[in-house]
Amino acid sequence: MRKFELAIARMPILGRVLLTLFRAKVAAGSFRKPLAGLCKWLFTSRETTNFTYDLEENNKRYLASLIADIVSIKFSVAMTYIEEIEGDEALQRHIADATMKSDLSFMADPKVRFGRRVGWYAFVRALKPTVVVETGIDKGLGACVLTAALKRNKEEGCEGRYYGTDINPKAGYLLSGDYADFGSILYGDSIESLEKLEAPIDLFVNDSDHSAEYEAAEYQTIENKLSRNAIVLGDNSHCTDKLLEFSLKTKRHFVFFQEVPRDHWFPGCGMGISFKR
Ligand SMILES: C[S@@+](CC[C@H](N)C(=O)[O-])C[C@H]1O[C@@H](n2cnc3c(N)ncnc32)[C@H](O)[C@@H]1O
Repeated sequence: MRKFELAIARMPILGRVLLTLFRAKVAAGSFRKPLAGLCKWLFTSRETTNFTYDLEENNKRYLASLIADIVSIKFSVAMTYIEEIEGDEALQRHIADATMKSDLSFMADPKVRFGRRVGWYAFVRALKPTVVVETGIDKGLGACVLTAALKRNKEEGCEGRYYGTDINPKAGYLLSGDYADFGSILYGDSIESLEKLEAPIDLFVNDSDHSAEYEAAEYQTIENKLSRNAIVLGDNSHCTDKLLEFSLKTKRHFVFFQEVPRDHWFPGCGMGISFKR
């Protein structure tokens, strides 16, 4: 035993108090960074929900490695896709302009930070899907990322179409300009919109009503609409096991990616990935 622990062991009451204070100091160390991030965020961001941030560098590399393994491409290619979206200046300008023109600009940041959506982008670039569906679009950040990938795919000779769903008629103001040429928004309840969708889905992103029941109902609705090698991404897998359950039931593989935001108090979301080999 170290000297400090020996001294505490000899003082039953005072020792316990000192030990408790010492343990509190050790645990408080874990809150220092998020607390500093919170103070900075309060004065530098306008966001109230659906927070945006960059991912830690290694977190991005782990994501690239995971995607490379799932879609059988080299790690370096997956990293190139991530760097491509992060360096897309036209998209950055588009989002900043559309945000400033919007009625909701008082609670949105014009600076673009994609978080896990860089993974959504890499999947579209690697898979070259014909149909991409995202349920729940909010401002349209994911919609812009996904259509930016379809835009690049078209330049390489592979055309695809994006469909977003949202119950809020004001959602999706970022999906405008060139990006709107690659997709459209189906307004109304997501499950009703999915039931009407006829084309086979190659990439599906679940991000609408985040209750476990609704999430499961979305997977059930699209089960027979997925193409042979479709990938399903669950933006709720850090909260529920519904995508894992769906994958087990339909004999698909499931893996989970945990975001690690850089310089932000938010602990990050997770991305469930369901796929066939
Ligand atoms: C977390 S946000 C989506 C974020 C977006 N995917 C992104 O990348 O920024 C959730 C969205 O789901 C929508 N929503 C909630 N319930 C819904 C439902 N039953 N049908 C369709 N959209 C719904 C909300 O209006 C909200 O815009």
